[in-house]
Amino acid sequence: MSAPADDLETVVAGLHLDDARRHIFLCVGGGKCSPLEASEASWAFLKKRLRELGQVDVERGVLRTKAGCLRVCRDGPIAVVYPEGTWYRDCTPANLERIIVEHLIGGRPVSSLAIACGPLVD
Ligand code: FES
Repeated sequence: MSAPADDLETVVAGLHLDDARRHIFLCVGGGKCSPLEASEASWAFLKKRLRELGQVDVERGVLRTKAGCLRVCRDGPIAVVYPEGTWYRDCTPANLERIIVEHLIGGRPVSSLAIACGPLVD
């Protein structure tokens, strides 16, 4: 018999949903913006590097979410980073390294890889 799952409050606290610094959504869609194997390699790199750099499940850390499609569907893998609303093309592991270090941690969007910037407004 498996152990009971944590209650919702414990899960939310463990993920630091209420005090994250940034959130990146990376498309690992059905091979339209990038070959599926390349997108999956980028996703695996993103998860590994964020953990290596101590950015996962910590206060003021970085949330990451695998998206099915971000509707750009070319020049991918496509990603978007909030709160800035910076959209990125060509998110290979090498380019993600720059996005992680310079933007997700350093706070400076990587303009040479950005295709749009649209912070959400009310
Ligand atoms: S498949 Fe990646 S943006 Fe649509």
